[in-house]
Amino acid sequence: MDTFRIEGPVRLSGSVSINGSKNASLPIMAATILTAGKSVLKAVPNLSDISVFSKLLRQLGCKVTRSRNGGLCIDSTVIDNPVGEYEIVRMMRASICILGPLLARCGRAKVSMPGGCAIGDRPVDIHLRGLRELGAKIRLKSGYVIAEAPKRLTGKDIFMGGPFGSTVLGTANVLMAATMAKGRTVIESAACEPEIADLANCLNKMGAKITGIGSARLIVEGVRQLQPVEYQVIPDRIETGTFMVAAAVTAGELKLLNCRLDDMMAVVDRLRNIGVTVDAANDGCVVGRNGPIKSADITTQPYPGFPTDLQAQFMALLSLAEGNSVIIEKVFPDRFMHVAELNRMAANLRKEGPTVIVAGVKKLVGAPVMASDLRASAALVLAGLAADGTTVVNRVYHIDRGYERIEERLNPVGAKISWENI
Ligand code: EPZ
Repeated sequence: MDTFRIEGPVRLSGSVSINGSKNASLPIMAATILTAGKSVLKAVPNLSDISVFSKLLRQLGCKVTRSRNGGLCIDSTVIDNPVGEYEIVRMMRASICILGPLLARCGRAKVSMPGGCAIGDRPVDIHLRGLRELGAKIRLKSGYVIAEAPKRLTGKDIFMGGPFGSTVLGTANVLMAATMAKGRTVIESAACEPEIADLANCLNKMGAKITGIGSARLIVEGVRQLQPVEYQVIPDRIETGTFMVAAAVTAGELKLLNCRLDDMMAVVDRLRNIGVTVDAANDGCVVGRNGPIKSADITTQPYPGFPTDLQAQFMALLSLAEGNSVIIEKVFPDRFMHVAELNRMAANLRKEGPTVIVAGVKKLVGAPVMASDLRASAALVLAGLAADGTTVVNRVYHIDRGYERIEERLNPVGAKISWENI
């Protein structure tokens, strides 16, 4: 089993460069199959999720390679098997976002329904509703979504809101399908995440006609054909937020290079409330803390609200605050697998439904803990950096899904993380 052994407490100091965004890369990789030809995507990080998605595209008929300078080359000239097999989709839910592009390109698609997830219930009903609105015939059979649109999809006004607000990958699926539909599509209650804006900008560079980018209303004038593209994905704001918390929880100071503060206003607002300094610099920002951690309340929401993908990391930070904090998870109400593990490290957390009361403690104590999902594992690593003694994080393969060689980037700035396979 892959584990991290973390010695604490440490104080981080130095510079870390932020990688390209995982959650922008995945839908943009899917977008390349909308057209036949060679696309090159830059700044796509080396993560296990990217490898799984590359395998999925190869299964459809694409050729996917890395060039010497790190560009991800996707040759989508041939798509001869528009099928997303269960064996791959079960490893990564984001695979579902090949559905829209396959429908637009091939007029048919068969994609396994994503299974269960550690962070909670994650249906795809809104994805299917949106694609049906564009004219696709969709049925479920033996755990697969079978979608057909032998004739061209047709643009329509579509409301994409759900019980928890907008859906990120649902918006991506419908947006990609609409780019090649006949006529105009209006996507209302679209996700406004920077990753969706990046996808829309990439699609426009491929020849799509999308306006309202970054807003909750996307307007798409369908076109007959798109072109292959050379595109650089945006920096990863969730990775940036994670390293910001690393500086804060260790009372250190980190310079984060290649990050976009503009995508992180809700996060920076909370950090400053907690007593953390975040100063813009021409090539990034400087994050530090030299006073006590103040308690603060956090409610996760779709963008531009506070991101659910940083909830666990901020819980680790606030577990050391002076006073009580209240964390409410409004996007994935069950996303709390990290609570019991942090309590094993002497945090004082009490969960009540989608809310966790965080009673600040003076210190955390190292312990063996179990990672359950990507962001929970990041929170346990951050807690281990601040805790007294040794923390052993088991199942760290989760962290490789979203952070490229995190230990090799944190150790040079003062962390003591060793990777072990036991
Ligand atoms: C994306 O997942 C991200 N994944 C997630 O990041 C992130 O947590 C999430 O958006 C929210 O920001 C990628 O981009 C690859 P949603 P997605 O559809 O699109 C409900 C990480 O750690 N819903 O926006 O799958 C759903 O259950 C990952 O990097 C429906 O009810 O999330 C949830 O409660 C984890 N029906 C809410 O909407 C639907 O058809 C938001 O989910 C779709 C969603």
